[in-house]
Amino acid sequence: MVQLTSEMKRLVDSESGTVSREIFWNQDLYDQEMEQVFNRSWLFVGHESQIPNAGDYILGRMGEEAVIVSRGRDEKVHVFLNSCRHRGNRVCRYDQGNSFTHVCSFHGWTYDATGALVALPYHENGYDLMDKSQWGLLQARVEVFHGSIWATWDKSAPSFHEYLGGSDFYLATGLMHTDGSDNGAEVLGGVVKWRLGCNWKVPCPDTDTTHGWITHRSTALALGVGATGNPVRPREDRSISVGQTRSRYTVSFPEGHTMGVTIPEEGDPGWEESGTWNERPAVREYLREKFEERKKRLGLMAHLSVGPAIFPNEGWLGRVVRIMHPQGPAMTEIWTYFFVDKDAPQEVKTELANYYELYYGPGGVTQQDDMENWYALTIASKGPVAQKLDLNYQMRLSEPPLHGPTEFGMPGLFAHNYSDENHRRYYQRWAEVMQAKDWGEMAPTKAAAAKDDWMKNGNGR
Ligand code: FES
Ligand SMILES: [Fe+2]
Repeated sequence: MVQLTSEMKRLVDSESGTVSREIFWNQDLYDQEMEQVFNRSWLFVGHESQIPNAGDYILGRMGEEAVIVSRGRDEKVHVFLNSCRHRGNRVCRYDQGNSFTHVCSFHGWTYDATGALVALPYHENGYDLMDKSQWGLLQARVEVFHGSIWATWDKSAPSFHEYLGGSDFYLATGLMHTDGSDNGAEVLGGVVKWRLGCNWKVPCPDTDTTHGWITHRSTALALGVGATGNPVRPREDRSISVGQTRSRYTVSFPEGHTMGVTIPEEGDPGWEESGTWNERPAVREYLREKFEERKKRLGLMAHLSVGPAIFPNEGWLGRVVRIMHPQGPAMTEIWTYFFVDKDAPQEVKTELANYYELYYGPGGVTQQDDMENWYALTIASKGPVAQKLDLNYQMRLSEPPLHGPTEFGMPGLFAHNYSDENHRRYYQRWAEVMQAKDWGEMAPTKAAAAKDDWMKNGNGR
């Protein structure tokens, strides 16, 4: 396991629960992040439903790198760098489409749907000594997890399953059909993309449970809807909301994955009862029917409500996935994917699209609230005086995490719903990955051993 240097401990001090503001503004640290974090981690690049047929492709991002996510004639998903091997031009300029060839607009080098170089002008006369097989677009490793597509540049990285370190249990939940069956979700429409002047880590992990009551207060007052999307109701009536029950926890993994989890209990309300759908009867009736099927399939676990944030830059809000792509220390490009059941009636999909647009994305009423704070804290942390003041992540620092499997029968390290434990775990992992020489130093097996120690000793710090 990697031992943090004193300099790294100064930046991220898990024992005292503080984080230096330098990690949001320092260009050298940002450059190091691109090498150490983004070039070695498994990153979300899309979903199979976006490329159902051979030749289908979408563009994706891996850190600052632009990639093409493509389904080849072999029906397999390929991910390769969108940068021509000749003079570096961007090969594909469309967000999505269907083509078995990608022709570079500069000199015409042509690649197939697996990224292989298949044709180039003047080859016969001009490139006699060139081995075309060595000049294809750079391939990433790819794994498909319940339809979601993940890629890494690192040949020595563990499998994606190992990388998840037990959080696969929660990630799979988000990718299910509402009726609890596998592979029934699809991305609704296109990917919503926008830029915001904040460091990419500021919105990650978005499992901050203590901000909503004030950050989204104006939305509640002005529009009469709460932070969860529910109409504002009398306080005594709010216990019915999913996610607001007494058994809500924040959950983290040594691998840096974090989330909020509501422990399912007998008698929990179905999803259709959340209040969000009172004004949308088509959605409410659809959810009621599918949730009954879900309960038959999954039993008590049908009620599991979870939004996993997978290290380093992926996060869920309900059935919405947001990816925080770095674009320099103080600029982030956020890509948002809305998920629905593939076979839901069109009326339900349309209602959900309207709801998603109302709530999430750059024009969404709650997302705007968050964006304003994320931007303002970045600007207010830039000056040399502010830079010297550490950020505070001390909430419930003294409480040891609860052991998931023994206490709750579910994986992960559980902490109070109102706690900074998820952020402390996230930044601790960030520091480890930033410093580790290789996967040997940050291998999931070692992280798992550390997790066992953590369990035995009652804390992992
Ligand atoms: S840069 Fe692509 S063909 Fe020359
Ligand atoms: Fe928020």
